[in-house]
Amino acid sequence: METMANKIAIEKTKSSKIHDVDFDNLSFGSVYSDHMLVCDYKNGKWSEPKVVPYQPITLDPSAKIFHYGQSIFEGMKAYKDENGKAWLFRPEENWKRLNKSAKRLAIPEIPEAYFMEGLNALIQLESDWIPQNPGSSLYIRPFVFASGNGFHASPADEYKFIIACAPSGAYFSGKVKVLIEETYSRAANGGVGYAKAGGNYAGQFYPTQLAAEKGYQQVIWTDDNTHEFIEEAGAMNVFVRINDTLMTAPTSDRILDGITRKSILDIAKDQGIKTEVRKISVHELVEAAENGSLKEMFGAGTAAVVSPISGFGYHGKDYDLPELAESYASLLKKRITDIQYNRAEDKFGWRHEVTQ
Ligand code: PLP
Ligand code: COI
Repeated sequence: METMANKIAIEKTKSSKIHDVDFDNLSFGSVYSDHMLVCDYKNGKWSEPKVVPYQPITLDPSAKIFHYGQSIFEGMKAYKDENGKAWLFRPEENWKRLNKSAKRLAIPEIPEAYFMEGLNALIQLESDWIPQNPGSSLYIRPFVFASGNGFHASPADEYKFIIACAPSGAYFSGKVKVLIEETYSRAANGGVGYAKAGGNYAGQFYPTQLAAEKGYQQVIWTDDNTHEFIEEAGAMNVFVRINDTLMTAPTSDRILDGITRKSILDIAKDQGIKTEVRKISVHELVEAAENGSLKEMFGAGTAAVVSPISGFGYHGKDYDLPELAESYASLLKKRITDIQYNRAEDKFGWRHEVTQ
């Protein structure tokens, strides 16, 4: 990695908000830390990132983000261990995926040093904002959007890359009931489903609202062509356990290549759990639910961590999953969070220390 020529400039806030925050009752992503990282793209290049007080952004009404949705983001977390040391989890994977998304949305890619050194400088400064309560962390939201102006439907000539942070608790409160989608699609072949593009989420809100009206918290997206195979959920990849085999759908043009997903697969294999990455049909799922071989389902993602699914709805019928005393979900959640919070050996080399 090329390093930056200059140390990252830091402008500190004059009035910290940290004492206004109730760290014992954190929801997800609704209070923000004191500082953010900002980096501007102008005249064909990214300026060096700087850390500034968290503040609103002013944009022209013709900024292309408003009209053409050129916007991508990442989701990651900083964790604090018992000794007060701060850690990240596989941050270079987020940088790589941000640039995969950037390329697909015709957004200029972010230099590795700007992302990694900028992130380190920001998290080091915001270290007191990393909650230490069980299950809490500092959610980190890197994002890039078209700040350049013009109604012409073409890529902008100016962009902003920002990293903002939110001390957060759990994404879901309790178990998650899902609806297997039979009408709408999240993504299509050749589309942007594999990118973390803002529009992918906007397109999910309406079908998810319809599902919520029927009592489901999330939609399980199926392939756009036949709606016969399950793909992923709104903000997480999906795992299914049939008998003792743990399976998940293969990544494709339509599925986000989740960092939690691939870590869970590696941990499961390491634990001696039989894993399969293959297409999973709704028919197979319904059959397994009916004959009792469907033991569990769970979602996996940075925000959601490992979230057990209590049951699914399909074709007007609900299928409940059993309560297991020793589920793969709880074992794998423990293993991955033990690595993230520096409570266990990290044989995979995923933990990344925030340096001073
Ligand atoms: N799928 C979607 C659509 C997501 O938004 C997310 C969340 O980032 C994931 C999967 C899980 O990805 P990761 O584990 O990298 O957070
Ligand atoms: C994440 O898990 O970080 C995500 O990006 C999900 C988000 C849509 C809340």
